[in-house]
This record gives sequence, C-alpha cells and structure tokens, in this order.
Amino acid sequence: MSTPPSHEAQRAELHAEVVVRAGVAAEWELPARHPAALLLTDRNVERVLPPALRALPRHVLAPGELSKTWAELEGVLQALDDHGLDRDGLLVCCGGGVVSDLGGLAAHLHRRGIAWDALPTSVIAQADAALGGKTAINLGPSKNSVGAFHAARRVLVDPSFLESLPEVELRAGFAELLKTAVISGEPLLAATETLSPQGLRSAHPEALDVLRRVIDTKLRLVQADPHDHAERQLLNLGHSFGHAFEALALGSLRHGEAVGLGLLCAARLAHDGGQLEARLRAALLRWDLPVRRAGDLGELLALMSRDKKRRGGALSLVIPEAPGHVELCPGIAPERAAEGLAAVLA
Ligand code: GLY
Repeated sequence: MSTPPSHEAQRAELHAEVVVRAGVAAEWELPARHPAALLLTDRNVERVLPPALRALPRHVLAPGELSKTWAELEGVLQALDDHGLDRDGLLVCCGGGVVSDLGGLAAHLHRRGIAWDALPTSVIAQADAALGGKTAINLGPSKNSVGAFHAARRVLVDPSFLESLPEVELRAGFAELLKTAVISGEPLLAATETLSPQGLRSAHPEALDVLRRVIDTKLRLVQADPHDHAERQLLNLGHSFGHAFEALALGSLRHGEAVGLGLLCAARLAHDGGQLEARLRAALLRWDLPVRRAGDLGELLALMSRDKKRRGGALSLVIPEAPGHVELCPGIAPERAAEGLAAVLA
C-alpha cells in the first residue's frame, strides 16, 4: 500500500506557478510533456483568445454562473474523453471564475486527475477564483457545494484581458479586490480605495501593483492553510452574506456585486463605530456597485444557514474588526446575522 502524501506534498499540489504580467497569455505554449490539450472557454472570451490557444481543440460554455452545473461538468468530461486526453493530457481554462471552477473540477475528475492551466480573464478570477485550487459546481442554490482541491499547474494572470472585460464585470470584480485588501491591512486597503475602473482596465502601474498585492495576500493564506481549515477561511469575508443575496437573485446579481453587499453586512458587525462600513460603502459607491438590496430577511437567513461554511449547526462569519484584523467567528446566532443584513436591506 502506498503511503499517503505528506502534508508538505499536499501543500505543493496547491502551490501553482503564478505569473502576473501583461502579455503573458500570448506566451502560453503546450509543454512537450503534454501530448494533447483541450481548451475550455466561454462564448465571450472565445473572441479574444491569444493565437496559441486558438489553435487548440476547444469546448465552449455559455457565459455565466448558470453554467456551473452537473450537466455542463459532464459536457466537459465528455469533451476530454472525445478528444482522447489521457493522464498526460492538459486542460487549459481561459475565462472567468466559472471556467476555472468548472474546468478545474473536470481536470480533477478526468482519469482521476489531469493537469490544468489557468488563464483567468476577469478581475474575480485573476484576484481569487483561479488561485489556490478550489474547484466547484453549484448544486441548485447551494453555491460551490460540489468540488475538490485541484490547483492549476500554472496560473497566467494577464491584465490585458481586462481591456475587453464588460464594464459591469470589471466593476463587480473591484469588490473582491476590496475584500482581500481589508484582510491584508491598511496599506493595501488605502491603495485599493484610490483605484479607478479606467486605471484597472488599462492595468495602470498602481492598479497592477494592487492586483499583485491582492494575489500575494491570497497566496499567503492558501500556503498557510491549503485545505481551508483555518486562516484561508478569512477569504470568505462577505461571502456568507453575499452567497445568500446571490442565491436569492437567481442570476440577476453578479458574484462581485453580492460580495460587495456582503462586505457591508460583515462590517456592520464590527465594534468600530461603523468606520470600516462607511469606508467600504464609499468605495463601492465610487465604483457604482450596489449598497442596498431588497430581500426577505427570513429567506436570506435560511439561505445563510444552509451555507456550506456552517459548522456544528451554527453559522460562522468572518468579521472585519479593522483593516488587517479580520476574525473568523463561529456560533453566530440568527439575530446577529440579521443585524448584519440590516446594513443593506432596503
Ligand atoms: N475564494 C476563497 C478561497 O479560495 O479560499
């Protein structure tokens, strides 16, 4: 019987090579050790693929969260099989968070695991989703409830993709940058507050610096806790609230928009006299992101209690007491969650 992989080996599995540079996507090439590759992308990204990726056989998804289903996962697995990818095959995922979440899971399952490369094209995927090996599909309204840890072999973060990202997607992505900046601390939060949509779209040096520091923060948390038992859970800041709004909206709220609302709810629970909440609200408003939302309190609480981060029958929430002082708080009572929701409920 083989020995189970050591903790260090498991860490290494989740530590992909990450390159952040304009133009890096155009330099992608098929490594000799992978005789066959399949490209997974979506209909929007298909129009802006770098030449080397255009040459690959491809499987194309409909854009959007509604593609993270069993049926689409089966479609990708079938495509991997149809194109004859064996254990040495490589799946290349070029797209937003949906493409990397679904593609990474397909790579994990195909022939019990093949390598995959991530070329994330949205702010959310570049700053968060494509990094750290969490892959998943949704089970009805249960977001990311079926998944696995399977890190990409390489993550090529090319800010040039942001030039053609739809404006609403670019703006929604800002909320994920803000989330990680709050976790990191005052210097990164202050730098993130000065970003503009145009600066981010054109990968202005200040914006690229923020993106790099956000990525470094995420990678540090992943390295410290690859399998999400402790520090990594801080990255869920705003997500328990946000996922509930997202599930209730049935596709009419973008993930980043929901995370922005969730950040305000979480900040409402801090004991700082509302200082951080006011800063976050001002930042979200500058980016034209929603800060109020209609919703039924009972339904939202029920969705939150179903959230996969629920432990031992009680809800765990990440509460930002101050920039850089973010705490995972278990055993949150529904009344306290309702207090948070009041920050945005119209
Ligand atoms: N998106 C949160 C994490 O990767 O842990």
